[in-house]
Amino acid sequence: MPDDMTIPVGDGFDQMARDAVYRAMFTRRDVRSYFTSEAVDDEALARLLLAAHHAPSVGFMQPWNFIVIRGTARREQVRDLFLAAREQELPAIEEERRALYRKLKLEGICESALNICITCDRRRSQGSPLGRWHNPEMDLYSTVCAVQNFWLAARAEGVGVGWVSIIEARALKDLLSIPEHVTPVAYLCVGRVSEFAPKPDLETHGWGRRLPLPELIMSETFCGQGEVPLKSTIARLKVATCEKSGKPLI
Ligand SMILES: Cc1cc2nc3c(=O)[nH]c(=O)nc-3n(C[C@H](O)[C@H](O)[C@H](O)COP(=O)(O)O)c2cc1C
Repeated sequence: MPDDMTIPVGDGFDQMARDAVYRAMFTRRDVRSYFTSEAVDDEALARLLLAAHHAPSVGFMQPWNFIVIRGTARREQVRDLFLAAREQELPAIEEERRALYRKLKLEGICESALNICITCDRRRSQGSPLGRWHNPEMDLYSTVCAVQNFWLAARAEGVGVGWVSIIEARALKDLLSIPEHVTPVAYLCVGRVSEFAPKPDLETHGWGRRLPLPELIMSETFCGQGEVPLKSTIARLKVATCEKSGKPLI
């Protein structure tokens, strides 16, 4: 955590614990390339799933399920779905970026130790849609919170996670026998890794870069100008962090 970030002690974690939480967030990576053949034991996997299961959810709905996929044949079928979807997506990519798109490694379905599909059961709290009457999609957002808990806990355990979204949902549902009212939210490649890259793969390959956070902050209304002190505090944090570690964390 940046040195000059002071937080009142209160009920907060001690410095080491706080550092660990921020470290998990700042060094988490989407992993596609560095999976090793080492297994993820059930003890570790159980902790990751428990972390996911403690995510917030609208109306405490807990709409998630976790399909653990270990079989090689099924994973090869999922990879075929990915390959087909990638071809379908290609024409939507700007022409001058297509060659780069083709070169990017965008999945580790078969190389990882196992795959997990995290789904959202859209009927789980039927009859009492607390928090979802106006915004029915909140159950999907809740499921994404579970994905992020899983991802961060995995980073802390030294387990890599790669999210594959380039898959046609209908075909994935058929392949995994997912019922009609259940939505596959995340298809994750999970496994021990040789390293976590210092920055996103897509940044390394020149596809994108992290946007400057101050430019994303608005005041009072969308596009509202202001919050100058907050923005310069953020800018200082980044500089302080860069100077210390040599790597931008934010
Ligand atoms: C909803 C979602 C879908 C994603 N789908 C893919 C994907 O299909 N293939 C892939 O290689 N990465 C995928 N990613 C990973 C992003 O490319 C990655 O998070 C981003 O480039 C930033 O890198 P980082 O996660 O290592 O910080 C996905 C991430 C999210 C949150």
